[in-house]
Amino acid sequence: MYLYPKWLRAWHVLNAVLFLILIITGLSMQYTDKENASYIVGFSKAIKWHNFAAIVLIINYVIFVIGNFLTANGKYYMIGRKNFISDLMKQLKFYSFGMFKGEKHPFPVTEERKFNPLQKLTYVLAMYVALPLLIISGIGLLFPEITIKTIFGVSGLILTDILHITMGFSLSIFMIIHIYTCTLGSKPTSLFRGIITGYHISDDH
Ligand code: HEM
Repeated sequence: MYLYPKWLRAWHVLNAVLFLILIITGLSMQYTDKENASYIVGFSKAIKWHNFAAIVLIINYVIFVIGNFLTANGKYYMIGRKNFISDLMKQLKFYSFGMFKGEKHPFPVTEERKFNPLQKLTYVLAMYVALPLLIISGIGLLFPEITIKTIFGVSGLILTDILHITMGFSLSIFMIIHIYTCTLGSKPTSLFRGIITGYHISDDH
């Protein structure tokens, strides 16, 4: 099954590389202080690389949104209300118990259903909630002059910073869990092969 068109694969690989750069440079900035001026990457280098990677990530994100809007890939991100919670529970039960007992995937991949319910929910939350918030708060930190000065007496810049760090942390955790769940195809490597070649081996999931 051809499930990952070229533009999506190009977006994904660039997004993953940029994420790694942003995590390394972000941690470098977070843990730098006067005594410890270079944690992983030197402070000024970390700022330059973080800003550069962030700008490329924003452009890449716009391509993702437009691509999903204009092509059939967007339909995989639509959450229907019917049975959503019960389907989510079925998938959670499979990941918690079923797969260790050799049970079959409750939602096998088809051309109509690329993602299982849990994948769909986490991808929608990551791509359409956390990433936009990360980007907006990042722009606010890059241009502090446009950030609201105070919100209920608290510095707007500090609140923007907290939002940015929270989203960055959440997406880093998402990425770790994402990589783990991507090993749960029919073979540990088959889903990774899919996102590189574009083809999903049909007995996965
Ligand atoms: C080294 C890091 C990463 C690896 C190895 C990786 C691996 C994969 C693999 C194997 C798939 C295909 C399986 C599937 O359809 O679910 C996939 C899809 C996906 N990944 Fe990643 N990923 C990485 C980083 C990221 C990051 C940082 C994000 C977002 C913040 C992300 C978002 C997505 C999304 C949204 C899809 C589904 C794309 C679609 O088919 O529409 N990935 N990833």
